[in-house]
Amino acid sequence: MKHYLSIKDIDSLSDWVSEARTLKANPMAHKNLGEGKTICLLFFNNSLRTRLSTQKAALNLGMDVMVMNFGSEGWQLEFEDGAVMNQGKSEHIKEAAKVVSQFCDIVAIRAFASLTDKEKDEAEIVLNGFKNYASIPVVNMESSVAHPLQALADAITIDEQHTKPRPKVVLSWAPHPKALPHAVANSFVEMMQLQNADFVITHPKGYELNPEITKDTVIEYDQEKAMENADFVYVKNWSSYSDYGKVISQDLDWMMTLEKLGNAKFMHCLPVRRNVVVEDAVLDGEQSLVIEQANNRTYAAQVVLKKILSSLT
Ligand code: CP
Repeated sequence: MKHYLSIKDIDSLSDWVSEARTLKANPMAHKNLGEGKTICLLFFNNSLRTRLSTQKAALNLGMDVMVMNFGSEGWQLEFEDGAVMNQGKSEHIKEAAKVVSQFCDIVAIRAFASLTDKEKDEAEIVLNGFKNYASIPVVNMESSVAHPLQALADAITIDEQHTKPRPKVVLSWAPHPKALPHAVANSFVEMMQLQNADFVITHPKGYELNPEITKDTVIEYDQEKAMENADFVYVKNWSSYSDYGKVISQDLDWMMTLEKLGNAKFMHCLPVRRNVVVEDAVLDGEQSLVIEQANNRTYAAQVVLKKILSSLT
């Protein structure tokens, strides 16, 4: 495997999940695979889980890890071809990506959506800039439109926790004071389209995700109806896609409560705002899977890095 940029790079979800669970049972089984290899993690945005779990996964495989908060510590990058760089941007992606490629064997990038320019966000200029100009494999640690490491961890978690061959999984929008990107929701939708699950999305009108991603997935605007007999409820806020990047509702009636959850398991990628997105009783109760999801980020990253390392000559 050359890159891990989106869910489309997974050739067999069941094989990947099975391999991740095997790695979880014995994380150090391939501790020599990455010997002499270095991964460089470049963060244009903040992180807790992605940063630590990707480092942990690389260390479990015997790799060396270099981390840079590029957004606050690197030179401001120019991505436009032919740009006259006489303003604030000091370095072009063409040089930056080639230079990074000399120092490491894999580069992983976190670069969120601006939520101000849909066209640029969908062009994935940072991730694709590295893909186009780096000579080494690129891993997506959450880009403008996708968070495939999170979605793989979510698939591992559902595989571990399900009690029916075809569970009902609901993705429910929740209120949030800030405009958040669509990346987590997009990748979760794409992952559920690969999974053997009855999958329903619920959100207020106006919060429809990109229809090219949701395709024919069922959308139910009545949250209570959507959640009937749910086995897993994945809660996430995202901003409007049609009125791009806008917060058009903060309706607290959409907050997840223990009463609404019924017998379902609760999922969220974290970080989460308590008593806005979900009430304390859910997060502090036994139906919450959020800590296990975060733990599975290591094995999601480890299966990805293992596959890339195995393909390096
Ligand atoms: N879920 C997730 O990606 O967490 P971080 O933003 O803390 O990395």
